[in-house]
Amino acid sequence: MTIEPRAFLTTMETRIGLTAEDKKVMQANTDWGTAVAEEMADHFYAFLGRDEEMNGILNATEGRVHRLHATFIDWFNQMFTGMDNWGDDYAKCRWHIGLIHVKIGIGPQHVVPAMAVVVDKVGKKLKADGKSDELKEALAKVCMIDLAFIEQAYVEVSSSAVLKETGWSAALFRRLIATGASSM
Ligand code: HEM
Repeated sequence: MTIEPRAFLTTMETRIGLTAEDKKVMQANTDWGTAVAEEMADHFYAFLGRDEEMNGILNATEGRVHRLHATFIDWFNQMFTGMDNWGDDYAKCRWHIGLIHVKIGIGPQHVVPAMAVVVDKVGKKLKADGKSDELKEALAKVCMIDLAFIEQAYVEVSSSAVLKETGWSAALFRRLIATGASSM
């Protein structure tokens, strides 16, 4: 049970409806993205810092917040450029980001609110700067694709770990999950 990042990206683009026009709009606004990235990073880490549990994770190692500020800015900019036009590099990068969060124990309950903050804050900034609805919609779609990668990594890593430890087949595991869900 593990995914191929590029195939997953293609599936998400189709499901979320990221079009060639959306990509063009994003790329045309790369400079704006670069200009606001720092401010968005400030909002993001202020939000995480207000939550006791997430603040604990952020401050667990020396210099982490500082390093994360820089990685957030890179991540934010990559949403505009699409790196290699949303190709293999983009997919591998997003999958890697997903795996890092799983390793640190950051789950859906942390990541979803955090992405909601990005969408909300960037939406307000777009409005204040008189940017188009097309850009707002394209950016929201890219954020949802990136969110899907982090969420899927959580599922894939958890499932793979159970299969490896128990030797169960994927079919048996799925059946047990379905049975478990019915009994809750
Ligand atoms: C919108 C959701 C999020 C995005 C886009 C995001 C983005 C990133 C990126 C780009 C990295 C660097 C990955 C690398 O090293 O290659 C990272 C690492 C990390 N993130 Fe997130 N993140 C998100 C949510 C969260 C949340 C909710 C937390 C909770 C505290 C968190 C804490 C961390 C930590 C602790 C690291 C590893 C730092 C280290 O290298 O020591 N992230 N994140």
